[in-house]
Amino acid sequence: MNDKSIPIPIASDHGGFAMKEFLMQKLQQDGYTIKDFGTYSEASVDYPDLIHPLAKAIDSGVYPRGIIMCGSGNGAQITANKYAGVRAGLCWTVEQAQLTRMHNNANIVSVPGRFIDFDTAWEIVQAFLNTEFEGGRHVQRVDKIAQLL
Ligand code: RB5
Repeated sequence: MNDKSIPIPIASDHGGFAMKEFLMQKLQQDGYTIKDFGTYSEASVDYPDLIHPLAKAIDSGVYPRGIIMCGSGNGAQITANKYAGVRAGLCWTVEQAQLTRMHNNANIVSVPGRFIDFDTAWEIVQAFLNTEFEGGRHVQRVDKIAQLL
């Protein structure tokens, strides 16, 4: 996704706030436009309140890809994946980010704000934004994700 004119939505709770601020600065320096869904301080908040609006916007096609964080990355990812059109991958390495794009066609990356360093998080975000879906055998697998029994 090399079209940097397409805004990138980003959201976190307090556990991911410092990382979100760092990543927004890096993204802007790199020429991306950001839509900041909050949170806007270190004050304690409930992560679903921040993640639902971003996930809904991805689900309804307002943005093609987004970035979310909480302390572990789990609560944010679990919340986002409640939307049928969302495929949020929890990534703590660059390879995880590449794989969730290549194999899962992930449209959200969830990053653990308290478990990896900020420079690694930036590498993960770049990998997520710059890696394309492989297609092929993964298409029918991804199509089946939203086919509940
Ligand atoms: C907040 O303390 C923490 O629970 C939250 O950021 C996240 O890790 C939840 O999954």
